[in-house]
Amino acid sequence: MRSRISKLHVPYFYGIFVRTYYISTPIFYVNASPHVGHLYSAAIADAAFRFQLLTGSKNDIFSTGTDEHGLKVERASRKNENSQTTFTPKDTLDYCNKISTEFSSLFKKCSIDFSDFVRTTDTRHKLTVNKFWQNLKNNGHIYEGSYKGWYCVSEEAFLKDSQLKEVKSEGSSGVKSKMVSTESGHTAEWTEEKNYMFRLSSFKDDLLHWLRDERVVQPAKFHQILKSMIEDVSLGDLSVSRPSDRIRWAIPVPGDASQSIYVWVDALANYLTAAKVYDESPENLEMNLNNWPPDLQIIGKDILKFHGIYWPSLLMAVGLEPPRSMLVHSHWTVDGVKMSKSLGNVVNPFDLADQYTPDGLRYFLLREGVAHSDGNYSDEKVITILNAELADTFGNLLNRCTGSSINPKKEFPSLDQTDIDNLCSCSCNQIQNETANALLESLLSLPDKAKTYYSHNEFNRVVDAVMGVLRNTNRFFEAHRPWDAAKQLRKMSSTSKEEGASDIQFVLRTTLSLSMESLRICGLIMQPIIPKLSTTLLDTLNVPNNKRMWSDASQFCWQGGGKSANPLAMSQGSPLFKRIIRDGS
Ligand code: MSP
Repeated sequence: MRSRISKLHVPYFYGIFVRTYYISTPIFYVNASPHVGHLYSAAIADAAFRFQLLTGSKNDIFSTGTDEHGLKVERASRKNENSQTTFTPKDTLDYCNKISTEFSSLFKKCSIDFSDFVRTTDTRHKLTVNKFWQNLKNNGHIYEGSYKGWYCVSEEAFLKDSQLKEVKSEGSSGVKSKMVSTESGHTAEWTEEKNYMFRLSSFKDDLLHWLRDERVVQPAKFHQILKSMIEDVSLGDLSVSRPSDRIRWAIPVPGDASQSIYVWVDALANYLTAAKVYDESPENLEMNLNNWPPDLQIIGKDILKFHGIYWPSLLMAVGLEPPRSMLVHSHWTVDGVKMSKSLGNVVNPFDLADQYTPDGLRYFLLREGVAHSDGNYSDEKVITILNAELADTFGNLLNRCTGSSINPKKEFPSLDQTDIDNLCSCSCNQIQNETANALLESLLSLPDKAKTYYSHNEFNRVVDAVMGVLRNTNRFFEAHRPWDAAKQLRKMSSTSKEEGASDIQFVLRTTLSLSMESLRICGLIMQPIIPKLSTTLLDTLNVPNNKRMWSDASQFCWQGGGKSANPLAMSQGSPLFKRIIRDGS
């Protein structure tokens, strides 16, 4: 069968004009305050986006936002102590405003540099949803039907028999039984109602065609899971509205106010809102395709079905290309259990950012989190990693290089190819030679390696590679003992002609300079992961703002005629990252 994808309109032509790069996070439910798992989704997207900017992309979109409609949010707003127990749109919106602001404040605090924050209660978004619905309807993909089944409010989805189990509990009035989701453990409610249906079942072949490219869903594990979901399961049609007397806090179906649009259709359309797909023509359904499709959508594994089945089908139904790629990440657990409000085990990201600094927290999440497996959160682990890596390996090296006793002139000394050759081949000290060679080898290959890892969104591997180079730099520094050289030179200052002074000067100058060059390159490469710390480091080394792009990381300062000495910008030596003192120690 020829796929519908091949017939879709292609909005731009490679090579003719530079197109927008578009990356998104899911939009976050406002039924509870943000937790560290939410920040993780956003930090991944931010790091991927910053890497794109470093490599020269412009006019790009990084969208995030909040998912504010539906029963789950409505119920949460009524439980909120400041709101009344009966439903009123104003109280519900007040509640949404409050929680949505918590998300945007957290993201700002943690340097999540989004270009758009879509709220599903925004007027512009409601207009998009209306047009999207009309488009689906005009194309014949929506019909009137009815639905009977178990609805899980927490997941905002109808569940199949295979996704349900019966749980019995003994109470004062005898044994009670209820149906719960096998995946999340949340209760499901029996529901029978009229609603509009979307012809999802007709998209099976198109979905498999979209997934023929193995790179669409990453990591490969989730690509496989999604393919099996589509192949194995009989893909029924999707209920895309619910009676508005049941779902009051929602966008009404255009032309039928007795029905509310299903929250997932509403939520998924946020990506169209951010890309301004329906903004061009207020009066008709013409689409602006300049920003379409998204290049990379970040999602957690729990929402793969919605993004990997419903979303591309809905897009194809209106003639839009599905996303180019999706990165599916796993979850943060606490003692092996997924972090979630209902389980009462959430870790508050505001507290963590205060305790460990926003960059410290980003560093931990991106270094410890791997997309294919869950990561267990523990304060002990955070402290150990941050102290060993950001404080001792990274920060301490900068401090040592810039300290007054070994660097009284406060400069980033000169370095050229002859210096490098001499450092690597001088016959005087084997350990010094070995450490210089090991450092150079790892440093020279770092930019290309890191670029590959960033392109695959493997931030943990970027950090591993950078830390490897920094450890080599520390070994090189130790082996060359620049503090001894500085001491000897201080002693010699009155008799500067003394024999051997130039050798000692060479050791001091080249040790400092090569170490600082390593710091400069590591600082450039770490910008997407720890933007504030990298800026402090690059400012200290006096690296000009227009020399902080990705291409600057592979231009080693000793090449092409070498570099002359330049002053550091630092006035005093406050540590790049302060060691964290454990409570009670
Ligand atoms: N509102 C929907 C998404 C709609 S997108 C069109 C939603 N919201 S959510 O707030 O529940 O989750 C948002 C993101 O946070 C998801 O990617 C989810 O996987 C992620 N996380 C929620 N808990 C998490 C952890 N414990 N660990 C890591 N990420 C977690 O789903």
